[in-house]
Amino acid sequence: MSLQDKLEALKQETVAKIDAAQDLKALNQIRVETLGKKGPITEVLRGMKDLSAEERPKVGSFANEIRDELTAKIEEKKIELEKAELDRTLAAESIDITLPGKAVKQGVRHVLTQIMEEIEDIFIGMGYQVVEGSEVESDHYNFERMNLPKDHPARDMQDTFYISDEVLIRTHTSPVQARTMEKHDFSKGPLRMISPGKVFRRDTDDATHSHQFHQIEGLVVDKNITMADLKGTLEVMMKKMFGEDREIRLRPSYFPFTEPSVEVDVSCFKCGGAGCNVCKYTGWIEILGAGMVHPNVLRMSGIDPEVYSGFAFGLGPDRVAMLRYGVNDIRNFYQNDLRFLGQFKGE
Ligand code: PHE
Repeated sequence: MSLQDKLEALKQETVAKIDAAQDLKALNQIRVETLGKKGPITEVLRGMKDLSAEERPKVGSFANEIRDELTAKIEEKKIELEKAELDRTLAAESIDITLPGKAVKQGVRHVLTQIMEEIEDIFIGMGYQVVEGSEVESDHYNFERMNLPKDHPARDMQDTFYISDEVLIRTHTSPVQARTMEKHDFSKGPLRMISPGKVFRRDTDDATHSHQFHQIEGLVVDKNITMADLKGTLEVMMKKMFGEDREIRLRPSYFPFTEPSVEVDVSCFKCGGAGCNVCKYTGWIEILGAGMVHPNVLRMSGIDPEVYSGFAFGLGPDRVAMLRYGVNDIRNFYQNDLRFLGQFKGE
């Protein structure tokens, strides 16, 4: 058989195989076997060295022609198979768009986070900065700088968890006051800050006590800050939080870091003052502690109490949430029961 005949036969045979190929894998196999380096066409071309000079170009161009034809044929078949494959996949994987979708479960921010952010917004609106402190504090900032020296009896009200004799987890957000005051540059304006965060005390947990709870500390220091500024500020805050009709009243109290100190009540948002279960039939709800910053506290932070004065207050977001939503056990906030937490959807 001449080389041409061999090539012609090879072509017929390959075309038949290509036509019969069922999938891309089989087709690729044919391509490798016939056109590849070890395939019969290459083999034929290799045998050309034995041909006469006049036959060689003829056979050569014939072989090239066949190779091109087969390449084109394979390419054509490839497109056909790819399309068939796609059609098969589309048919197999077709989706029924009439089925109802799966609802994406949307979480909510923790109710205490919501309350704290709401209060932060009120104060940001009044020009306060929000400063977050560290939950691990030194005895120095948590107590000494708050006018509670080592053997002060008022430390008993705030026993906590000690990491060492000098390091503890903070009992209140007040240490952030000292840390902010000592850095403040009064030539740039007054100091107005709030500090929200977690605090810890060695309390026995019950419906109204938790060893971990939250506070929002507020502090303003400038020249000529008076009790009137404190009262006005608290009134604005209470109206924003509990409704425009709210009133506040101040009762004398004691904190080592403020003098004078007050306990602040807000008129009951539920009954408006007539008396109900929320205000324990008094018309008033005890809501926070406050006072004028003690001169010692200012002095220890490098501020001259003869020139500057300030007020501070400490509010419990846990209590605010309990009052507002009628939650009767503080432990609910810390048990991560989604049936409880999921009720507070926020705005
Ligand atoms: N730090 C006080 C407490 O935890 C609350 C408070 C802050 C009272 C600021 C007055 C002024 O008891």
